[in-house]
Parts: sequence; C-alpha cells; structure tokens
Amino acid sequence: MDIGTWMEQARRQVDQWIDQDLASMEVQPGSVEEAMQYSLTAGGKRLRPQLVLAAGEYVGIPWEPLRPVALAVEYVHTYSLIHDDLPAMDNDDFRRGRPTSHKMFGEAMAILAGDALLTEAFVKMAELSTTAFEAGAVLRATHCLAVAAGRQGLIRGQVRDLAAEHQEISVEALRDIHLKKTAALFEACVKMPALLVGRMGDADALGHFGQHFGLAFQMVDDILNVVGDPAVLGKATGTDAGLGKATYPRLVGLDQARVLVDEQSRLALAKLDQARLETLKGILTYAQRRSW
Ligand code: IPE
Ligand code: IPE
Ligand code: MG
Ligand code: MG
Repeated sequence: MDIGTWMEQARRQVDQWIDQDLASMEVQPGSVEEAMQYSLTAGGKRLRPQLVLAAGEYVGIPWEPLRPVALAVEYVHTYSLIHDDLPAMDNDDFRRGRPTSHKMFGEAMAILAGDALLTEAFVKMAELSTTAFEAGAVLRATHCLAVAAGRQGLIRGQVRDLAAEHQEISVEALRDIHLKKTAALFEACVKMPALLVGRMGDADALGHFGQHFGLAFQMVDDILNVVGDPAVLGKATGTDAGLGKATYPRLVGLDQARVLVDEQSRLALAKLDQARLETLKGILTYAQRRSW
C-alpha cells in the first residue's frame, strides 16, 4: 500500500475512534465535553496517532488493541494546543481552521477543556486491554506517556519556549526546547507500542526515531510559520516573529533550517530495522515535505 493511502486510512480510523469516544460522552451544550469535541473534531492531521499505529506495525501489533494509545496521544496533543493558544501563552486566535477554544468558549472553559483532555488521556491508558498486553507493560507505557507530557517533557519545553521569547539563545538551547515541547511526545508515540509487547531493543530504536522526527517536525512548523499559507495550515503565520520566538529560521535562517530538517530526517532512520521501516519512513518523508 502506498503511504498516502495508509495515512488516509489511519486518519479515518482515528477520526472514527474519536467520534465513537465522544458519542459515549453524550456531549451536552455548554458542557466541557462540548469544548473538547470542538477542538478534537476541528480536523488535525492525526500524525501522533498515525505514528502509534505505524510503530505498532513495526512491532507486530494490529490497530485495534492500540486504540486507547492512539486516542491518548491525540488527547494530550489537543490539550497542549488549546493551552498553547491561550492569551497567557502564544495568544492565537485560529487553530485547525477554526477560532481557538478560548475565543469560542472563553478562557476558563478552554483551560478546563485542556485539563479534561489531558486527564482523559490517562483514562484511556488505564483502559488498555490486559488481555492483549501484560499489566506491567501497560504500566510502563503509561509511565512513558506521563513523563513525556509532564514537567520533564512537554511542560518543561513550553516553559522554556515562553522564557526564550525576545531572548538571544544558542542553537543548543533551542534544540533542547524542541526536544521537550514537541519531540518528547513523538518519542512516546513510537516507543509505547514496543513497550507494550516488551520489545526493549525496538523501543530504543523507535525512541531515537521519534526524537529526530520531532525535531524535524518542529523545524518545519517554524519554517511554515514564515513561508506557509494560513488557509492551508488552519492557523496564522508570522506569529513567531511577532512574539520574538526562538526558532530555527530566526537563529540560522530559512535555508539552513531546511538543511537541518533533512539532517534530522536522516538521523531519524539510523537505528531502525531496514526490513520494517517502510511506513515510518513514509510518514517521515511526508512530514519533511508537508505544507500542512
Ligand atoms: C502543531 O502540531 C504543534 C506542533 C508541535 C508544531 P500539528 O501540526 O501536528 O497540529 P494538528 O494536530 O495537525 O492540528
Ligand atoms: C507547539 O509549539 C508545541 C506544543 C503545543 C506543546 P508551537 O507554539 O510552536 O506550535 P504552533 O505553531 O502554535 O502550532
Ligand atoms: Mg507555543
Ligand atoms: Mg503556538
């Protein structure tokens, strides 16, 4: 199957799982579930759940048993976007082609919708089948996601991203921000399936892939903030410059940033088994060249 078809099928499957999960929440007008639904169904790329499913294939797990993990990573990601857009953080008005959560529901509800999504992610992890996976492995995967999302991962990256606004920082410090705010979650996405089946060697190689993928992904995000089309991206461009954000285009220029994307993409594949890497490589190539 070509990678475009695979990604489309995976995206449709994830959308269906999200719709089914929302249906089980019986969303009422004015409820926090309504705000959760608003952001979840706004049409994200579903790249993180796609990586969960692709890493699952790499270690021999079919899609269905990974449903809770796919939902959990998309919920953590969507929460992080809702909070990232708040006036106290990046103060963005558009996301996924719609007004941001706080624009639509007010700041308090946006904060709570984010909190609820983050919490729900761990409800999903706790619902992982202990018939498909050993209980100890479920705990190890849950720990992996919690560490990636928490104070040593995404949160630390967000703290440092905000602290770096209008500051002169080194390329090393910028790499560390990207590793934490973005790559930590990508790393968890691809590691968790391996942890669930106790394949520690694969978990290592996949974690390496996830880190470098995440770095390349955030570099492309920053490049698209300069040269991308807001209508295609579903969010505003030029905002990083406006906020004085530390980004690769600002620190090293657009051309060198593109060189670094290719370098990270090459590094990402270095430890993977050649015979099994096709889908992961396909997603990586898509992410490298994306305009969305
Ligand atoms: C945006 O992520 C935030 C970053 C880490 C750069 P995506 O570009 O994956 O956003 P969606 O899920 O498609 O909206
Ligand atoms: C996204 O960072 C990282 C997280 C939300 C954790 P950005 O602030 O660079 O992403 P966009 O450009 O708003 O999507
Ligand atoms: Mg941000
Ligand atoms: Mg932002």
